[in-house]
Order: sequence, then C-alpha cells, then structure tokens
Amino acid sequence: MEYFLGIDVGTTGCKVVLVNEKGELISKAVAEYPLYTPYPNWAEQDPADWWQGTVQAVKEALQMAEIDPLLVQGVGLTGQMHGSVFLDEKGAVLRPAILWCDQRTARECEEITQIVGEEKLMSINCNPVLPGFTAPKILWLKNNEPHLYEKVAKVLLPKDYIRFLLTGDFATDVSDASGTSLFDVPRRKWSEELMSLLEFPPSWFPPSFESPEVTGYLKKEVAEMWGMGDKVLVVAGGGDNAAGAIGTGIVKPGLVSASLGTSGVVFAFSDEVKVDKKGRVHTFCHAVPGKWHVMGVMLSAGGSLRWFRDRLGMEEKNLASLLEKDSYDILTAEAEKALPGAEGLIFLPYLTGERTPHADPYARGVFFGLTLKHRKNEMVRAVMEGVTFGMRDSFEIMREMNIPIQEVRAIGGGARSALWREMQASIYGVPLWGVEIDEGPAFGAALLGAVGRGVFSSVEEASEKAVKVTEQVLPSPELVDYYQKAYRLYRDLYPALRDFYPRLQEL
Ligand code: XUL
Repeated sequence: MEYFLGIDVGTTGCKVVLVNEKGELISKAVAEYPLYTPYPNWAEQDPADWWQGTVQAVKEALQMAEIDPLLVQGVGLTGQMHGSVFLDEKGAVLRPAILWCDQRTARECEEITQIVGEEKLMSINCNPVLPGFTAPKILWLKNNEPHLYEKVAKVLLPKDYIRFLLTGDFATDVSDASGTSLFDVPRRKWSEELMSLLEFPPSWFPPSFESPEVTGYLKKEVAEMWGMGDKVLVVAGGGDNAAGAIGTGIVKPGLVSASLGTSGVVFAFSDEVKVDKKGRVHTFCHAVPGKWHVMGVMLSAGGSLRWFRDRLGMEEKNLASLLEKDSYDILTAEAEKALPGAEGLIFLPYLTGERTPHADPYARGVFFGLTLKHRKNEMVRAVMEGVTFGMRDSFEIMREMNIPIQEVRAIGGGARSALWREMQASIYGVPLWGVEIDEGPAFGAALLGAVGRGVFSSVEEASEKAVKVTEQVLPSPELVDYYQKAYRLYRDLYPALRDFYPRLQEL
C-alpha cells in the first residue's frame, strides 16, 4: 500500500492528513501557531512557525497512522492564499508574512489600479486588486519598508515557502498564483506585462505548475527526519480553496461548495473563464488542470461566531469545560431557542472589513434592531443568520453570472451544526449535502499527491472516487419565504451605511 500526505499551511495552524492509495483517510494532526496583529487591521505570521507546525504535524500524523513512513510516496501542499513571504538572495525571510486577511493596503490597491488600469487588470487577472491580495503587499513594502524592499529576491506564497524548505525548489501552482494580481488567469501563466507595469522583476516569482504536477522531491535531511525514503515526490498543490474543492468533489459543472470556516467561501466549478464585471466574486484557476473556479469570500464567517464566543461567551466557555462539551454546541443550542429572524435583529458580519460582495476594508460589524427584548439567544442567532445572508450574496451573484448551481455541499466547521445547515438550506433556497470526509484542503492536497504519483489517472477521478456525499438537508418552505424578506432588508443595510464607515475610520 502507498500513502500520501496533505499539508495545509492554514491561518490558525498547520493541518496534515495521511491518505492511502484508495483515497481513504488514515490519520490527521494539527499544530497551531499564533497570528500577530500589531495594528488593528494588520495580520502577520512568522513563516518559521509554519515550518515548526509542519514538522510537528507530519510527525504526529505518521505516528498515529502506525505505518512504515517508507511507504509514503508523495506530498501535496496547500495553504492560506495571498500571503507574502519576502526572501533575500540567500533565501532568508526578510519580515513576518503579511496575510490574506490583512487590510493595510487600501492605498496600494488604488495605486495599482491607477498604474495598470481597471480594464487591463480585469482582462489579464480577471479580478480587481483587493487589499488581501499579494501585489499590493509588495507595493506596501516598497512604500513603507524600502530598506527591506531593496533586499527582496523572491516573493513566495505560504505553502510555497514550505515547499522551498521541504525540497529546496521554488515553485507554485496556478490556483494559488491566481490570487497574486500578477497572474494571467485565462492563459494560466504569470503576466510579465503586469509585473513590468508595477516594476516587479519576474525573477522574484517561482515557476508555476498545474496542481497535480511534480515540482520536486523531499530533501534528504527532511525525508530522514520523518523516516521516509529518498524519492518522495512533492506536487504543486493548490490554494486552500481549490485544494479543498478537490477534497469535496467540486470537479464538474453544477457543483458548488459552501464553506463556513474563519472565512466563508462559496466555491463553484467552471469549465470556462467566467468573470463578474463588477469584480464581486473571484475568478481563479482551479486545481483541476485546464479548469477554473468562481468564488465568493467573506472575511468573517465562522470568525464572527468565534468573536462572539470569545468576547461575550465566557459563560458558555466555562460551561463547556465543566461539561466537557464544545462551546460552539452550547452557543448554537442557545440560538436554537430564539425564533428565526432573531426577533428583528440583523447582524452585518463585516468585523474585518469585507471582500464579497462589498470589497471594502472600512466596513464594520453591526447589530441592527437591538431592543430591550433581545437576549443573548437572539444575538447568537442573528450572528449565524447574518453570516449566512452574507454567503447568500455570493449565490445571488453566481446566479446573475449564469453559473449552474445544481448541488451544494456544506463544509467547514459551521457545517457541523445542524441548526446552521438548516439555516443555510433555507437562506440559500437549495438542498444541501454533507460530505463523509470533511478534512478540508489537506485532504484534497493529499489526493493531488496521489494523482502526481499516477495512482489516479486524473484529478477528477481521484476526487470522484474519494469523496462521498452524506445526508441531505432540504429548505423549509415557510422559512424560505421569511428569510427572503429578511435577506432583502439585510442587503439594503450596507449601502445605507457605506459612506459612514470611512468617517468611523477617521475618528
Ligand atoms: C481566498 C482567501 C481565503 C484564504 C483563507 O481568496 O483569501 O480563503 O485563502 O485561508
């Protein structure tokens, strides 16, 4: 039997899964690391923490599997997208990595749009430049830390920095590179035109590959540290959403996933390059060679519920540890005691600004409609409903773009809650399926490793064989009507507040 590792360099930690050659999950491990917020809208991590997390999580996953590590034949990499790791010419990290959820680069985004022109950017990269993306981070370095900018020799995405430490090679994949604002998405290659307009040398960026292509082999010392053999291949892998889609079976038209993790992502497969002219959803290359995906990203989805729990849910946290239960289960049980609509309370989930559908780093969270009657129950329910309305925004845009939506698969931490699954079905107005193995991007990355080794003949085959759907949740007709009205009000709130957010920032 052959085995494959999937390594996900995530935002909260590094997750590793081990699968066998049939695509069955054998073991998994997570090593957490910190996120630094030196200023309110900054988000940074130390790439050395990612490496330590990787070393530890791989070790644990292997120990738990109780297999001979010599049987591991391949590794697939995935990770948080858009983050920038700046290396000098010796390969040393110049400063903490600036992450996808960092919002410091509003000015640089304007600068890039002015230099390149909106139309050109949309025709080459298919997306407007957004504060979380990579190119504005590079320009920020130039504008704010010129002494470091002049030392830059390479700019890598998070998983590609780990690849560099694993194999010594510089490489990336088309799905992750799509989110740099420097990639030609229709032609699936770096855009030298965009690089030259922004004066970024092409040599800073690693060669790009399709996701199941082999980019190198584990270095001898790395393989030895884990007890592995000397020919363990490493495939290009994918950005976390594209790799996650392989692990969820989103590999043909009509299939869509709705993921509630820290961020909220609605991800649809596309055979062709389909672009929203207003740039509200992203069009990126898929980890399926020659295919694309369209994706809406909310910045604080599960993150909103975590904020609520951490700041206002001390009682629930204490109760959870007393009863040895999950604090989220206690919170969602409270939400269940509130009526749908939370007695007229609406939550806008823009706690860290927003991307889809309002690319606005200044947007902020709101509880709209608070009265003396509202209890914590209604507040938790409003948070869950507000996040789900935010996800529905992506479905609406995809419908406008004529993207087929035949089957929606609910994944991520949020899908573990029965209440949240029902709420999603009724707010999106579609039946929802679960998946048997919901191990996220790491699982998809491991499957890509198996494709790279030739165990499966294609990414589609690997995904269709390994992914099994489970139970279906249907929308409830009365709730669909009610939520339709509530959604309309939700949707009208942001435009009414938009102009006030920058004033809040000035304050
Ligand atoms: C995608 C995005 C997020 C991160 C989270 O565009 O920014 O989903 O990849 O890890």
